[in-house]
Amino acid sequence: MAHINHHYLKLQAGYLFPEIARRVSVFSREHPDARVIRMGIGDVTEPLPPAVIEAMRCAVDEMARGDTFKGYGPEQGYPWLREAIAEHDYAARGCRVDADEIFISDGSKCDTGNILDILAPTTTSGNVIAVQDPVYPVYVDTNVMAGNTGPADERGEYAGLVYLRADRDNGFVAPLPDRPVDVVYLCFPNNPTGAVADRDTLARWVEYAREHDALILFDAAYEAFITDPTIPHSIYEIDGAREVAIEFRSFSKNAGFTGTRCAFTVVPRELTGTTPDGEQVDLHRLWLRRQTTRFNGVSYIVQRGAEAVYSADGREQTAGLIRFYLENARLIREALSEQGLEVYGGVNAPYVWVRTPEGEDSWGFFDRLLDEAHVVGTPGSGFGRAGEGYFRLSAFNSRANVEEALKRIGRMNLAVGRA
Ligand code: MLT
Repeated sequence: MAHINHHYLKLQAGYLFPEIARRVSVFSREHPDARVIRMGIGDVTEPLPPAVIEAMRCAVDEMARGDTFKGYGPEQGYPWLREAIAEHDYAARGCRVDADEIFISDGSKCDTGNILDILAPTTTSGNVIAVQDPVYPVYVDTNVMAGNTGPADERGEYAGLVYLRADRDNGFVAPLPDRPVDVVYLCFPNNPTGAVADRDTLARWVEYAREHDALILFDAAYEAFITDPTIPHSIYEIDGAREVAIEFRSFSKNAGFTGTRCAFTVVPRELTGTTPDGEQVDLHRLWLRRQTTRFNGVSYIVQRGAEAVYSADGREQTAGLIRFYLENARLIREALSEQGLEVYGGVNAPYVWVRTPEGEDSWGFFDRLLDEAHVVGTPGSGFGRAGEGYFRLSAFNSRANVEEALKRIGRMNLAVGRA
């Protein structure tokens, strides 16, 4: 008899984005002539930068010749990509991250889930895990799958997790926990709210983690969208963070790699965790062991593409993509505020976080937007209890689609919820 991982049965109905896709496909079946515009999932629409394409073409040619063909590469990534990242993403910002502390992977979503492999289950260790609310659902669901939570309550909150509420009153920047936690997931610029954490906020988190011997899992997948020069791009810009934080980064959103797949995770050598006997063990060693056992690396061709993001042309072209999506975000923000909605985010992030019209909940607004404007967004409640009454629009789209969507939304009465 094969016993299943019964923790999966605790998960809520479906992962948020497949659930949205299901509703949209029902709508499209019933309204075959409607041209639906998708501003739900944060998936890029613009082609890869030409410098990336060119580098990948050359890499394909290398794979075609016996003298340059590559088989397995290093599981943790080729040194030239790790060095380019260390130089441009870290040294250039004045923070010390060594190339061998950077692990290339096929996505931050995978890594933020996989990292649990090197942490003890909460049931045996008593680890207390905190997430912001609203939260990128992957952090929560992977903990449920790992058996780190109890069942969900009627509001969808899992027993055992500490939820840190981010709302209008705190500028969508969650407060420090009011009890000791051992692991905390932070995401800045934030998905879904688009909020950013300033230097003081991050410094308080680092101080908290040092004081409580806690581990910060810092998701910086959207750092390239930061426009405010005072906002840190990396947790390692804060003194002392190397001893308490793992950082996740991705090429998905800055360079359009959502379908190409390349990301990286930084595990500094100073970072340690505790064994049941109280011994300190370095997490770098464990993550290296995990990756070399379970992962065979990102393809050579894709890593060459990622390396080209750091070339002079690549940097300029990537900056152009980011400007393009941020301009979409500006158009969305301005159009919706003109219609009287309360709008957040979208300045240092590709997500616009909108308060739903008076009297309408998140899924109600989702359905109305789909029915009346044939536009898909993401209901805030899908990101947690504190997301109820909000709605996320993604700025990842073509300009034509954004303009058309805003025109259609402009014809709706958004002063109050559906009658
Ligand atoms: C989102 O829409 O939140 C993102 O696309 C999720 C992801 O990057 O996995």
